[in-house]
Amino acid sequence: MKGLVLSGGKGTRLRPITHTAAKQLVPVANKPILYYVIENLARADIRDIGVIISPETGDSIQEALGDGSRFAVEITYILQAEPAGLAHAVQTAQPFLQESPFVMYLGDNLISSGISSFVQAFQEEKLDALILLKEVENPSQFGIAEIDADNRLVRLVEKPQNPPTNLALVGVYLFTPAVHQAITRIKPSWRGELEITDAIQELLQSGNRVGWRALEGWWLDTGKKDDLLSANTQVLDEWSVREILGEVDEDSRVIGRVSLGVGSRVSNSTIRGPAVIGEHCLIKDSFIGPFTSIGDHSRVESSVIEHSVLLSGVGIFQVDRLEDSLLGRHARVARHNRHRSLQLLLGDDTVVEF
Ligand code: G1P
Repeated sequence: MKGLVLSGGKGTRLRPITHTAAKQLVPVANKPILYYVIENLARADIRDIGVIISPETGDSIQEALGDGSRFAVEITYILQAEPAGLAHAVQTAQPFLQESPFVMYLGDNLISSGISSFVQAFQEEKLDALILLKEVENPSQFGIAEIDADNRLVRLVEKPQNPPTNLALVGVYLFTPAVHQAITRIKPSWRGELEITDAIQELLQSGNRVGWRALEGWWLDTGKKDDLLSANTQVLDEWSVREILGEVDEDSRVIGRVSLGVGSRVSNSTIRGPAVIGEHCLIKDSFIGPFTSIGDHSRVESSVIEHSVLLSGVGIFQVDRLEDSLLGRHARVARHNRHRSLQLLLGDDTVVEF
């Protein structure tokens, strides 16, 4: 069984963060989403992994994952020259996949469960495809499945205007090489892409064995800001541990599951977990509340922060309360007492709400 991780695309929904970084590398609890993906494949003993990259962000993906040895996997990079759809990505990866069955995993999808049981079911039931389904509130933004009274898959449709159900296709799929022939028989969708949903529908129609499982636990498609904040909350809530590697002075309190990286200093401040603070940060005269992730080399002084994600090198000074926020690398928010007005220097696509 091989793995195919999709890590191309433009990340338009996460701008401005993705002007300078691949969406799959945006951190959740200070760890790139893509790392959770590779780790989940490795845990299911899938170690021969192809990673689809785009010309725009391929270099940074390769830099982040390397040859895969740090995850005990072997990575082959596959360039998809244009974002022509998930099925097109599979087509592009065919020389790597050859006649092997494979797990396809979207590099911006985060799920709480392992995938070994799905791999086992796929093999035991001799399926040609196994998909995972999960109920969602906004079905017109996903691939959607229709199931009959006997729980059999009837039909799959990509981002329907009038969704027949709210059962969305999660971005983790298992296939035999039968999918390659199915892809040759589909046409680009209205958005000009070869959709994997259409390829699975084609498998169904031509009598191949397509199974499904309901995904237990949470699933987050981290392509949007609010999903990213929820992903951060879920991961900190369930997976964070207490690990204090930095320095905490005697005027500070660090409560609960807080991870503080090497070379970071907490001075006259309170940190209430779950929270993660990277390496070489300074937290001074501040309160860091639950569900906050702060990237390396950041500085927070005389401020209160809660339920927020700060990437690396961020500076927050004299801010009474910052919450539900996502700040890109080297962003700086400072209040100057002299001014009652806002003074802003904002990049393209930035959002200010107060
Ligand atoms: C893609 C698939 C869709 C699936 C979703 C899961 O959507 O086309 O069927 O439900 O991933 O994350 P996209 O990310 O291209 O909008």
